[in-house]
Amino acid sequence: MNIIYSTRNFVLRLSYRFIAKPLVFLWEPEDAHDKLKSLGKFMSSNFLFRGISRLLFSYRNQRLNTVVDGIQYDNPIGLSAGFDKDGELTKMYPCISFGFAELGSFTGQVCPGNPGRRLWRLKKSKSILVWYGLNNQGAERIAQRLAKARFKLPIGISAAKTNNTDCFDIDRSIADYMTTYRAFRDIGDYYTINISCPNTQDGEPFADPDNLGKLFEAINRERVPNKPVYVKIAADMSIDEVNSIVDTVLRYKIDGMVLANLTKPRDNPEVFKDEVPYPKGAMSGLPLQKIATNLVRHIHQRAQGKITLIAVGGIFTARDAYEKITSGAHLCQMITGMIFDGPQVMAEINQGLVKYLKKDGLNTISEAVGLRNPLDERFASPLLQQHSDTGRITSITGKKAA
Ligand SMILES: Cc1cc2nc3c(=O)[nH]c(=O)nc-3n(C[C@H](O)[C@H](O)[C@H](O)COP(=O)(O)O)c2cc1C
Repeated sequence: MNIIYSTRNFVLRLSYRFIAKPLVFLWEPEDAHDKLKSLGKFMSSNFLFRGISRLLFSYRNQRLNTVVDGIQYDNPIGLSAGFDKDGELTKMYPCISFGFAELGSFTGQVCPGNPGRRLWRLKKSKSILVWYGLNNQGAERIAQRLAKARFKLPIGISAAKTNNTDCFDIDRSIADYMTTYRAFRDIGDYYTINISCPNTQDGEPFADPDNLGKLFEAINRERVPNKPVYVKIAADMSIDEVNSIVDTVLRYKIDGMVLANLTKPRDNPEVFKDEVPYPKGAMSGLPLQKIATNLVRHIHQRAQGKITLIAVGGIFTARDAYEKITSGAHLCQMITGMIFDGPQVMAEINQGLVKYLKKDGLNTISEAVGLRNPLDERFASPLLQQHSDTGRITSITGKKAA
């Protein structure tokens, strides 16, 4: 059976590379995105087309099944936030080998995003320069549409703050997040609180631990049972800034972190400078790959495996995903790999992950989490130290030592 999947994926990869991609890349990226979304909606509109999509793009293997925070995933490879900003393609994702999908980011108010051109492909750097600014139809309208949907895979709800002013007001901002939080109480399986959109008018004020603590307090007052809350952080932070966010996550018993959002600096060695066409925006893909892996490695140690880590940034191959998992990630997400290498890439990655598990003599993904990054208590957050001294460590998720 494996040989059949490998041959199918190989043929699809070549077809994408030499036929579909050259045509798709003739369109401007936002135009191409809209057209491919329409194709995805069409292909997921009825049983027959979904069946064809499954034949072409699905891959399943029991070794990939994993449970994280009580949620069952068929495989650990998910769609990252930003591809499906209005939650319109949920029927398609299980057909193309995604194990879960994070929708949004949704905002409390309708948000048109930034004006003008907003996406550029950086082909040599295998990256997308993004200047969207959180465009979406607004949480309440999207929630109304999704209220009756039956999802065939776990769904994450990414909540961000409406990007409509350069003047930060903490109470108004928290209320904005809470509008989305409440609207999706009964929809989806987990929340991601996105505090790290690099393209907003008022910056990233919730990277400040005091502001973040207040946001977490508001969420904790209305915490939905059995629905984990994760926080998505920026890629470009100092170690001290990262540590204070991790400590805030531990202090407020947030379930985990998504690592990481787009990266801004253009002096990144992975970025071909002659390619960057616009002074604003931030980059996905290869320029983010090492940064995201390093964040996973560091935070796995700082939190001593006590919180869930979802790794995202520059995953193109099974090797990239396995590196993130063995560094400490429980789940992975991706967008750019699918755009540059084709819709068969999730099946390829999942098939490759099974090979890596077998090679390491492992039966499940959870056994691989943190395998190449053994926990060392010297790197633990002082907060964990205090908690363990007072015996409270188990009250923080307390279950995921790799
Ligand atoms: C076109 C585009 C739009 C994005 N919009 C969002 C967003 O709305 N919310 C969010 O949390 N991340 C957003 N991101 C960031 C991705 O979720 C992800 O963190 C990043 O692209 C790195 O993954 P990748 O290298 O696999 O693309 C966006 C990324 C892209 C490429």
